[in-house]
Amino acid sequence: MSLRGKAVLITGGGTGVGKGIAKHLGALGAKVAICSRKNEILQATVAELQGAGIQAIAQECDIRDPAAVEATAAWVLEQYGRLDVLVNNAAGNFPALIADLSYNGFKTVVDIDLNGTFNMSKACYEAWFKNHGGNIVNISAPFEGAGIPYQAHAAAAKAGVNSLTRTCAVEWRKQGIRVNAIEPGAVDNTAGVDRLAAPLTGSTLADVAPCTPTDIAKAVEFLVSDDAVFINGQCIAVDSGTGVDLLKLNL
Ligand code: COA
Repeated sequence: MSLRGKAVLITGGGTGVGKGIAKHLGALGAKVAICSRKNEILQATVAELQGAGIQAIAQECDIRDPAAVEATAAWVLEQYGRLDVLVNNAAGNFPALIADLSYNGFKTVVDIDLNGTFNMSKACYEAWFKNHGGNIVNISAPFEGAGIPYQAHAAAAKAGVNSLTRTCAVEWRKQGIRVNAIEPGAVDNTAGVDRLAAPLTGSTLADVAPCTPTDIAKAVEFLVSDDAVFINGQCIAVDSGTGVDLLKLNL
């Protein structure tokens, strides 16, 4: 119960990796708050978490909307009286070659993945972290430094997330805030992998057994623990090495 009494906010916590993180940190004693755009899914996940004995609450929030993220940060503080960990997990994605990607398609994914991460980090910083310290973990992708076909939008956004991770870590370290990123590879039974599987069939990703949301959650657990107290501003792949392989093979 290493997170007993701690409050954790997970964006996109209703499904997939975010839900796995909610379950895992909740099982370690954390009070969990999840948000996403889909209230019905959030309520079902909250019921599941509560059924497992986890303290859990949910609120609808589109992280592209600065007013909505401010309201969500205020809501967590109202409900739990503290905020120890923010996991910026919410993301939007679809496979599309640049030739098939509209201006709005590119913008939409950057708005969710990069601007949404900035919005929630800034809102939580202003509302709590700047006076109390805390931990932020951004769920990124092992895309930086390579050309990633079908993922121009997401790869650009996640490279931005990695940059933001480093700058937040440097600007905020004196206030006791650590900011790190995890770059998951293929995660089983998630919308991301289901959607990307078709165009990437036959690629390196197809050769590697996907990990589970719990494997990602365990990395979050470590990063927010005191065992990682000197780890700050790092973007760590949790991907069985597929990221470095993609660079070599120029997939
Ligand atoms: N191929 C090409 N363009 C696509 C697309 C696809 N598969 N899916 C969406 N787009 C484009 C749309 O055509 C639109 O552009 P347009 O206005 O020029 O036509 C733009 O992206 C926005 O799409 P829209 O559906 O209106 O936006 P949204 O905000 O409702 O949802 C996503 C955007 C990315 C979240 C949506 O694709 C989605 O719901 N994805 C599933 C959930 C998900 O992504 N989970 C995370 C996986 S990592």
